[in-house]
Amino acid sequence: MTEQVLTEIQDGVIIIRLNRADKKNALTGAMYNGISDAFDKLESDNSLRAGLITGTADCFTAGNDLVDFLSASSIGGDSPVGRFLRTLPALTKPLVAAVNGPAVGVGTTMLLHCDLVYAAPAAKFQMPFVNLALCPEAGSSLLLTQRLGYRRAAELLMLCDSFTADEGKEMGIVSQVLPAEEYQAFALQKAKQLAKQPPASIRATKQLMRMGNAAMLKQVMDAEANQFSAMLAGAEAKEAFTAFMEKRKPDFSRF
Ligand code: COA
Repeated sequence: MTEQVLTEIQDGVIIIRLNRADKKNALTGAMYNGISDAFDKLESDNSLRAGLITGTADCFTAGNDLVDFLSASSIGGDSPVGRFLRTLPALTKPLVAAVNGPAVGVGTTMLLHCDLVYAAPAAKFQMPFVNLALCPEAGSSLLLTQRLGYRRAAELLMLCDSFTADEGKEMGIVSQVLPAEEYQAFALQKAKQLAKQPPASIRATKQLMRMGNAAMLKQVMDAEANQFSAMLAGAEAKEAFTAFMEKRKPDFSRF
């Protein structure tokens, strides 16, 4: 497993820590695989009852590595992102997130699949897919629209507005906002509390809470992956990724 995803086990909880601070925990293929490996372990090891995903002290994740995106051809199929996006919604055991600092792109959309999300006040969420000439992923086009209603979801997915931890709480994306010194410990305590619950009951509850949406979610995620993968290869996206690497604003005027 890559050093950029660290795992640790405590009291029935597998703690998954994104650990690439110099690049704001931007996710490479190896990191997606590291997270998916940890999810597989959570699912297959009977002594593990819950997962906790978190970042470094002041950053959850800047989302997909944009340098990787320049050479990527797909977020579906057997690609590391595809594997991650299949494994995450298929988890039968609960997943808790502890978030501080930037949670960008999949850093926000993965939270829509978590069961509990705890954030520090400085957490900042954004889904800038359209700014990057891409489209939403990880089921966010469905899940956000269901949770927030179309108009609010459109502000986040079309205008790519960012939002704070308090706003995330008000929208129902964040469970609770806690001081920076406390959010990690609090999230771990909640994950351990889940791990002590009767496991079959937790699994059944999770499945029942999600089953009404499962078929639709799969259909939307497949469509998102196809659309996103096609757009990755597009000239507009190449301009967006190159602009990021050159630390300039993208220029879409010629398209
Ligand atoms: N992919 C690759 N590298 C990334 C990255 C990403 N998604 N996000 C940040 N980095 C790198 C930066 O290029 C920089 O590298 P450098 O030190 O070699 O120049 C380093 O991480 C620090 O980033 P920086 O932008 O200086 O930090 P910041 O605190 O000013 O801003 C963010 C943090 C997350 C707000 C900003 O980096 C950002 O917007 N990143 C892109 C997010 C994004 O669009 N993700 C894709 C979503 S699909």
